[in-house]
Amino acid sequence: MKFFIDTANLDQIKEAQDLGVLDGVTTNPSLMAKEGITGAENILKHYVAICDAVEGDVSAEVIAVDFEGMVKEGEQLAALHPQIVVKIPMVKDGIKALKYFSDRKIKTNCTLIFSAGQALLAAKAGATYVSPFIGRLDDVSTDGIFLINEIREIYDNYAFETEILAASVRHTMHIINCAKIGADVMTGPLKAITGLLNHPLTDNGLKKFLDDYKKGN
Ligand code: G3P
Repeated sequence: MKFFIDTANLDQIKEAQDLGVLDGVTTNPSLMAKEGITGAENILKHYVAICDAVEGDVSAEVIAVDFEGMVKEGEQLAALHPQIVVKIPMVKDGIKALKYFSDRKIKTNCTLIFSAGQALLAAKAGATYVSPFIGRLDDVSTDGIFLINEIREIYDNYAFETEILAASVRHTMHIINCAKIGADVMTGPLKAITGLLNHPLTDNGLKKFLDDYKKGN
């Protein structure tokens, strides 16, 4: 399972990279705004800074919602750096744009997936990744993990190569449940990734080992 970090915060990206378990980064316009990165030029520069800080795929989202606009923006984003994956929203013109980029071997991430039907369409159009938003489904009393299950079953039935990128991951149990189902990738905040480290018995056990070592020395 690949681990992506879902942030535009360079310090957090570097911290996850230093841990040695990071496979990529996802961003979106809200995450950019949260870091105070505004204006087209600054946003493009920030994508390059993120690519320089990590080794894997970096999703950069188009703002256009029409086919021509998505193609223009996506080509500009893809030309920025070889690690860029063009993030396209799940709308009708987005499906056309996914096919356009797929035909040109440009990687894509279809975002804002909330149903199995949307994931099926995105895979048919040749998306590299689909991003089902599990936390936002949970927010409206719908089981986000169930959607990952459905997509896994559909993709396995037909050997689709599109990777399931579980997004809107909020906590460690989301990561564990996605891993049990076989999501290809999860993207979440740094605290969800580092949260996997924690267990009080580990802390207690380590304290005892160190205390006993001191007693004998
Ligand atoms: O990857 C999608 C993600 O950024 C959305 O997360 O927590 O805003 O639902 P959230």
